[in-house]
Parts: sequence; C-alpha cells; structure tokens
Amino acid sequence: MTTDDRPTGTPAGLGPVSETALWTLYHRAVEARRPDTLLPDPMAVRLVETLDYPFEERFGAPSSAAVRFQSQLQAQRVRCFDREVADFLLRHPRGAVVCLGEGLETQFWRVDNGRAQWLTVDLPGSVALRERLLPPGPRQRLIACSVTDDRWMREVDASQGVLITAQGLLMYLRPGEVREVIAGCAAHFPGGGLVMDAVPRWFSRLATEGRLRVGSYQAPPMPWGMDASEQQRLRTAHPGIAEVRDVLPPPGRGLLGALLPYAARLPVLRAKRPSVVHLAFAEPGRTAIG
Ligand SMILES: C[S@@+](CC[C@H](N)C(=O)[O-])C[C@H]1O[C@@H](n2cnc3c(N)ncnc32)[C@H](O)[C@@H]1O
Repeated sequence: MTTDDRPTGTPAGLGPVSETALWTLYHRAVEARRPDTLLPDPMAVRLVETLDYPFEERFGAPSSAAVRFQSQLQAQRVRCFDREVADFLLRHPRGAVVCLGEGLETQFWRVDNGRAQWLTVDLPGSVALRERLLPPGPRQRLIACSVTDDRWMREVDASQGVLITAQGLLMYLRPGEVREVIAGCAAHFPGGGLVMDAVPRWFSRLATEGRLRVGSYQAPPMPWGMDASEQQRLRTAHPGIAEVRDVLPPPGRGLLGALLPYAARLPVLRAKRPSVVHLAFAEPGRTAIG
C-alpha cells in the first residue's frame, strides 16, 4: 500500500499517505506561532505561509479546539524525537541521522550541530516536494525509495555512528513490513539506534475503518498499531536489539498537556497511549540474546 501511494486528487498532487506530511507540518506551524510555544519552528511557519495548499480548509482553522489540541500533542511528540537526536549528536557530533519518512520535517534546522550528516528517505512524490521547498545543503542527502526497500541502507555511512528516526511513519506500513524494517535496521547498523513512534491499536483501528475525520480531511488507513504495553515485544524483531526504552514527552499546557508525561503511570492510559521508543542495537559482534 505505502509503496503505491498514488496521487488521488489531493490538493498538493500527493498520494494520501504522503499528504500526511502536510498535516504534521501544519500542526507544527500552528504550535510554533503561539507566544507560549513548546516548539519554536520558524521554518515550518514559513513553509505553511508560502506553500500553495489549502491548509485551513483541509485540516481546520488554527483557532479550533481540535487543531490546537493536535498541535500540542504533535509538538510533544516532536520534542521527544528532537531530544533523542540532540543527545545522539552530543555523543557522535559527526554521526549520521537517517530520517525515514521525513516528509517536510524541519528538524534539521532545529537540532543541527554544523557537523552531522543528514539523510532523508521518503517516497518519490514527497522527496520531490521536499527537494523543491527545502533544498538540501552540503551535509544533507535525499533518497527517493520506500523504507521497505533496503537500497537506502547501503547509502548510509555509519562510521561515525548512526541514529535512524521514523516519526509518524510506521503506522502506515503493514505489521510484517514494520517488523522487517526494524529487523533490517538492527542487522545493518550494529551499535546504532532507532527512534520510532506508534499509535495504539484502538487508534489504528479507527483510522483503518475510515473514522478519523477532521472537516473534509480523512486520515488514511493506519494498518500498524502497537499498544504501549507491547513495547518490549519489539525486541523479538531481531536478536541485535539490545534495549527498548520508552521515551516520555515533556509537559505541555493545560490539564491534558501536563498529564501526558504521566500517562505512562496512570493505570487506564498506561497501555493504550501512543508510544515513542528508542531501540538500541547491540555493538558489532554481539547479539542481545546469548
Ligand atoms: C505523517 S508523515 C510524517 C512526516 C514527518 N516524519 C513528520 O513527522 O512530519 C508520513 C511520511 O511518511 C512517508 N512514507 C509513508 N510510507 C512510506 C514508505 N513506505 N517509504 C518511505 N516513506 C514513506 C510519507 O511520504 C510521509 O512523508
């Protein structure tokens, strides 16, 4: 499904899965415009202002409660990824950051240390749009292929350390594909890591039944869901996965924003919340099991 994300008359001429990158971009920009923002992101704001795309008609007005709520949640997720990448770059200043399904993420401009190597992997339509709107600098490269095609792995220089990110991506793959991508990363990048997020199963079901709608916009199916209580099962994808660590979001505004970091401790929410996890791959020559 995801490798065949054909344009279906969406305003940007993208397929429905690639169009989700405009949804996340819009919510980052809405959050970034707030004076009390959790996520300063001037690049996202500029992109939304310049791109010829009906953001508000498609995804809702910035003043609507749904958009404000989503924007904050989105920012809290993004902050988890930013923190993991920034930590990695402190330990590996010349390391490679590989962003799977990067869409129009502007993370490079939020966390770059002036020395890292940055690799974007996305479907051809998304890569073409990114190349036009966010032309790559000398340390940035783009590869147009599905993440399920291991061609991108051969393009990574892992000699200075590697961190792979998969933000807002894996839910659009089939469960078997998710397992293969994780196993492939563990096999190819011993000593490296992967930061990824997952929607809970109830959310994946709603999306797949076509029941995630905001105004005229309907989110595409999300075939893969994982409850937070299942995080440690990710280790079974490959013996090289040494550790699975829950990455908790920073506090946000209001009651919900403040509660989110504690959801991992609340009995009802603990298992059913969205997850961000960091997978650490065993050093070369070692496997986590045995
Ligand atoms: C929700 S967007 C997330 C974009 C970005 N990571 C962010 O958080 O703003 C999903 C992205 O995954 C990409 N994607 C979906 N399936 C893919 C696949 N099989 N291979 C590569 N990219 C894929 C889409 O093109 C899109 O850019």
